[in-house]
Amino acid sequence: MDENNTDLSLQQQEVQQEKQEEKQHEKYDLFNTDELAELYSKYQPPLDEKVIEIILSSTRGRDCLVDIGCGSGSSTRPFCSHFSKVVGVDYSPAQINLAKSLSQQTSNVQFVQGSMYELPLADSSIDCIIGVMIAQFIDLPKLFEEAKRVLKPGGVLLFHGKGSPKVVQIERETETKSETETTISDLNERIAYIKTGLFAGLFHDRTYFNPHKYSNIPPLHADQEIARVEWTSARWTTLPDLADYMLTWSAAGKYCAKHGISSSELRRKMIEVLEGGDKGVCRVRCEADRFTWTARHVTGS
Ligand SMILES: C[S@@+](CC[C@H](N)C(=O)[O-])C[C@H]1O[C@@H](n2cnc3c(N)ncnc32)[C@H](O)[C@@H]1O
Repeated sequence: MDENNTDLSLQQQEVQQEKQEEKQHEKYDLFNTDELAELYSKYQPPLDEKVIEIILSSTRGRDCLVDIGCGSGSSTRPFCSHFSKVVGVDYSPAQINLAKSLSQQTSNVQFVQGSMYELPLADSSIDCIIGVMIAQFIDLPKLFEEAKRVLKPGGVLLFHGKGSPKVVQIERETETKSETETTISDLNERIAYIKTGLFAGLFHDRTYFNPHKYSNIPPLHADQEIARVEWTSARWTTLPDLADYMLTWSAAGKYCAKHGISSSELRRKMIEVLEGGDKGVCRVRCEADRFTWTARHVTGS
């Protein structure tokens, strides 16, 4: 190959790498506003106790846990009383700033702004890495390389995902009458419309997510124990709170950017869709799928 050709292919590689990096940044930027950081921390339900139990029962050491893509730290803080040291890493400065301000009372947690593919951690130093609502956004092979570097022998990598809400019960105001009263199936159709109609084409790649619930994540090590747990969680909420929760979806951020509207305008629109002209629904009980994927290296255990 002559020199000019080598230069050209190097240039092409650089352009391709820049494009890939830009694409990655688009993903981070979705979460990188003070508004979204606030929304996320307010309206995402707290980490299920069951996830904490799964992590504690599968992880042997208690020196250090790392939460990758930690956001504002709601999935990080619950581990501070169980591990000597806890580290949260997130690319978004807005999320990390909020995580720090929400964690001032806790001395053994550290929040670091940076990439999960280049963790500021020593080789073989970590007992457990967790990633909550993150596996669908990331370059898994790249993360696996970094996980293998920092995990102690026998260390654990765990992903946790949450599915979308499904209404299973409705409570009505007895006074508010409406010509057509909303049923459970109406509400589920309206939620489905927001997801697949309003937000059509705006969700990220869901290869490892629903409907697979992480069952197709490839192995981390050739010799490893993999465990997957699925369950359903339920909670009572209101339609405005449901709209607030859906505002935290990455597709909602993309929708606002695409249509040049504020998140409060989108919120109003979603409440209108959910109510469907019937203001009588005061509370709804929603169920959602929960799932975890855990890998533990057997050789080093
Ligand atoms: C859906 S949010 C989940 C936040 C948190 N785990 C929770 O459940 O509350 C995904 C987070 O991952 C972060 N993120 C995405 N890719 C990342 C990367 N390569 N390195 C570090 N953080 C990343 C985003 O900035 C965002 O805060």
